[in-house]
Amino acid sequence: MAGNRTLAIVKPDAFGSGKAGKILAHIEGAGFRIIAARVTHLSDAEAGEFYAVHKERPFFGSLTKFMTSGPCMPVVLEKSDAVASFRKTIGATDPAEAEANTIRKLFAESKERNAIHASDSDENAYREARFFFSETELIRAR
Ligand code: CMP
Repeated sequence: MAGNRTLAIVKPDAFGSGKAGKILAHIEGAGFRIIAARVTHLSDAEAGEFYAVHKERPFFGSLTKFMTSGPCMPVVLEKSDAVASFRKTIGATDPAEAEANTIRKLFAESKERNAIHASDSDENAYREARFFFSETELIRAR
């Protein structure tokens, strides 16, 4: 059965240009409940660990440099079928290919500076939520 939580990050491009409020309003407007949130500034080691799956990709160095360039805002979101539903809400990785009214179409600058991250599976949603929030925070967030 599909899970009801996903992990999103308002990335440094969007957070730094004052778009976090509008993005969170868009997320709530799409029916998601924000159940945990924090502002943080990732270290090189943290960004490398979070994106370890992309370590061999040519854009890895540039991605971690971008993700450590300023504060970002991880949030845990709740809705039925959260992972699939939220990926529809944010649109394609490249904003040029994203559908109208998706978060990336509205707020992203480029394929790398693409405003928002979203988990791609229930398993990763849990792993990524635990990357930023304690088990206690996630259990209490009801
Ligand atoms: P995200 O959903 O956070 O997952 C991996 C990130 O790598 C992605 O969003 C983009 O920010 C970035 N990314 C993916 N593909 C490319 C690419 N071809 N060039 C540069 N950055 C990319």
